[in-house]
Amino acid sequence: MNKGIFITIEGGEGSGKTTLIERLAHTMQDRGRTVLTTREPGGIPIAEKIRSVILDREHTEMDGRTEALLYAAARRQHLTEKVIPALDSGQIVICDRFVDSSLAYQGHARGLGMDAVWEINRFAIEDRMPQLTIYMDIDPQAGLDRINQAANREVNRLDLESLAFHERVREGYGLLLERYPERIVKVDAGREAEEVFQTVLSLMDDRFKGFFASRV
Ligand code: TYD
Repeated sequence: MNKGIFITIEGGEGSGKTTLIERLAHTMQDRGRTVLTTREPGGIPIAEKIRSVILDREHTEMDGRTEALLYAAARRQHLTEKVIPALDSGQIVICDRFVDSSLAYQGHARGLGMDAVWEINRFAIEDRMPQLTIYMDIDPQAGLDRINQAANREVNRLDLESLAFHERVREGYGLLLERYPERIVKVDAGREAEEVFQTVLSLMDDRFKGFFASRV
């Protein structure tokens, strides 16, 4: 089992995960904790290479199952090379996306089926699940508008999917909230960043009482 704490942040495009993760990490560090922030797909060289294959805008012919398998492969390598060692040494790991992304995007939105996608991911992650998952919920159109306004954000193959696809992603997360009510907490990400941050921080303090308390 984890000596540290494994937290994942999930959500649709433009839900503000990156900003939230940066602020959470700074707060934990100010409290004297060692925090590792990382992202999927990517986070280490092998997984970054797989990421560029998956997200390449020219790869329009990519089959849905291929996509799911590549995400699972990137996940496996990232988990064993980066996440597990950090957890085993007692760190807090905050990961931008994890298995729930595959369940919502490939399983539900792409229509591969959540159970089928869960099976390949079970093989990839064995029993390493996060203790807490924050789901940043935002109206897909509002999220896409946000990323279109951000000046230097890369636009990848999945960003180019239709609004209907992103609506299905949100629906998929809704199903996951029902499936894992203990682990996943939904947060309204349509609000001001500061408000979202305060909500998530108090939620974490509440959930992991002793662990997050200041050491300094
Ligand atoms: P990224 O630019 O990191 O997007 P975001 O900032 O929204 O996290 O690109 C990752 C894309 O890959 C994003 O569209 C979600 C998608 N994705 C899946 O479809 N399945 C997965 O398992 C993961 C991890 C990501």
